[in-house]
Amino acid sequence: MSEVSRRRALGIGGALGLVAATGLSAAAAMARRPAVTGAELRSAVPLPPPYQVPLPIPATLEPVGEGRYEIVQRETTAEILPGIRTRLWTYAGTFPGPTIESRRGRPITVTHRNELPVPTVVHLHGGRTPAASDGYPTDLVLPKGWTGHGGHGMHDHRAVVTELTRDYTFPLDQRPTLLWYHDHRMDFTAPAIWRGLAGLHLVRDDAEEALGLPAGRRELPLMIADRAFAADGGLLYPSLDPALRERPGVTEPYLAGVLGDVILVNGAPWPVQEVDAARYRLRVLNASNARHYELEAVTDDGRRLDLVQVGADQGLLAAPVVHRLLPIAPAERYDLVVDFRGVPVGGRVRLLNRLGSGRTKDVMAFRVARRAADDSRVPAVLSTDLPAWRRSDAVRVRDLAFRTGRVHGGHGWLIGGLPFDPARADVTTGLGDVEVWRLVADVHHPVHLHLVGFRVLSRSGGPPLPHDARLKDTVSLRPGESVEIITRFDGYRGRYLFHCHNAEHEDMAMMANLEIT
Ligand code: C2O
Ligand code: CU
Ligand code: CU
Repeated sequence: MSEVSRRRALGIGGALGLVAATGLSAAAAMARRPAVTGAELRSAVPLPPPYQVPLPIPATLEPVGEGRYEIVQRETTAEILPGIRTRLWTYAGTFPGPTIESRRGRPITVTHRNELPVPTVVHLHGGRTPAASDGYPTDLVLPKGWTGHGGHGMHDHRAVVTELTRDYTFPLDQRPTLLWYHDHRMDFTAPAIWRGLAGLHLVRDDAEEALGLPAGRRELPLMIADRAFAADGGLLYPSLDPALRERPGVTEPYLAGVLGDVILVNGAPWPVQEVDAARYRLRVLNASNARHYELEAVTDDGRRLDLVQVGADQGLLAAPVVHRLLPIAPAERYDLVVDFRGVPVGGRVRLLNRLGSGRTKDVMAFRVARRAADDSRVPAVLSTDLPAWRRSDAVRVRDLAFRTGRVHGGHGWLIGGLPFDPARADVTTGLGDVEVWRLVADVHHPVHLHLVGFRVLSRSGGPPLPHDARLKDTVSLRPGESVEIITRFDGYRGRYLFHCHNAEHEDMAMMANLEIT
């Protein structure tokens, strides 16, 4: 295959091919950027009409003792599409898994028991967690009597492998925000999340509760994820080894990312939520493997409602930021307030995805059921505890390129030209050091750092975008773009990670070690 046809086959032609072939500037390439990086699977079952299934709210996990939780990871069958049974891998029998509600600074321990047929490992995304509980990809929990090997990651002498169970301890000494927990097994994270291994974790504190933001029934977690369904009702996924035992990776058309043609919110297809004519707080997570969304809230008469952003990945902003359109990359979270008071009773507000086409344009809908009193507020000052790192505080500047390349003789995704290797310390930094990282991308790469939050300093030499505001733990690099971030490596010493959160890229080696000494 020629280089050009190979790129085409990989679905990564677009901007990348143009840059390589014609030397177009990054800006020109970006103007032609494809809306998504990845290829879409098509479901083989009839899909339900939108806005029929009520929005499920994941149950809150009950502690089994003071600060102690237990989760059994197991297979189950659930009705995701009406009338169709789907096999899932779950945390505690549901998809999404149960939500953990915790308080800032109150440590918890979660005992996970792996009753799935393959090794697993749990990561609390956005958590400030000691390395031993951070879910390093080779710190596997093996199923009882596991005989397979764990892929090349098993040659990692620092791995802490357990059989059947593992206790994860989370100090939660961090700003309140929406976190999520998901599988992070070496080479097999993408299909494991796809099968259902993802759940929410909310950290709260008194200061945030005192703000008067919409709460109780008027605070809704929204975990958005795309999936596709096979003729037998199971989830479609193009794994090379459908048992997820030995051979990682996906078939060639999906090397740039796996997209589904069904949009799920909290595990339901294009759901509908009845609301009061009042303000609501929406805790939005894009838990998709590779799909990017650009969200807008549109009334039946074509008006766009403001999406008032009050928080980012790592908690409250200093002040609200108003969006009409909000891009959200895999693993990003946005804390939004939407005001339904101007919508007539009986009216509907649809949450739409401007990057979608056909059925993937729809996400979910809200139906305004009644007038109601509303004493919630969106204060002009939301928080005053944000770090004030300046460029001049940085003791180091690093350049890190996120690009396609060869891995083990096949196609992969590389950071700084190298595929992930647990044995190599890619970045070594001192506890407490402030650093600036310059990240550059070929195609879309949502870049995530474990342990720390960061601020976006610039995009392609210009100012950050409005939705880059304040503390992030995942930043969306667009095709051809360079993004500068600044952070302080605070919290704990040990071996952490940074990686692309396009889950297929992550499994195909776009991950690196972050060693804090
Ligand atoms: Cu959400 Cu290392 O991942
Ligand atoms: Cu993470
Ligand atoms: Cu990527």
